[in-house]
Amino acid sequence: MKFQFTEENLRNVEAAIAKYPQKKAAVMPVLYIAQEQHGWISGEVMTEIARILEISQEEVLGVVTFYTMYHKKPMGKYHIQVCTNVSCMLRGGYDIYDAIRSKLNLENGGVSPDMTFSLEEVECMGSCGTAPMIAVNEDYHENIDTQKTLQILDSLK
Ligand code: FES
Repeated sequence: MKFQFTEENLRNVEAAIAKYPQKKAAVMPVLYIAQEQHGWISGEVMTEIARILEISQEEVLGVVTFYTMYHKKPMGKYHIQVCTNVSCMLRGGYDIYDAIRSKLNLENGGVSPDMTFSLEEVECMGSCGTAPMIAVNEDYHENIDTQKTLQILDSLK
């Protein structure tokens, strides 16, 4: 099914394009807007972005596959990203990751059958000073431990 930006998002796309000397330079923010609207970057989304930015679909695909922040499949209503990079790892990042995996019965990149949760182990999310941290969709939870993490998961149901 053809993907179309909402009118509001089309305005956001135009605003993103206006910030760059060339349309194609806006591919990352435009992908981000599309993901916010659609939840993931489908082939139809890439087709529409390629059309708007006047680039090939392969150029869009190259960006989508390079950056982990773009979802290549539908993810859960609550997409949980767990940082296990150095600062978070040293302060219990893997304990938190394991607690989530075991509680939700998910592996890296997994989505629960009811599409409520998805899990992703990620590199540094720029919050090292308040490590360890996880992100639930756009919300950062910092200075957490396994107990707080499980409370956060319970609050999401
Ligand atoms: S190492 Fe986890 S946020 Fe930087």
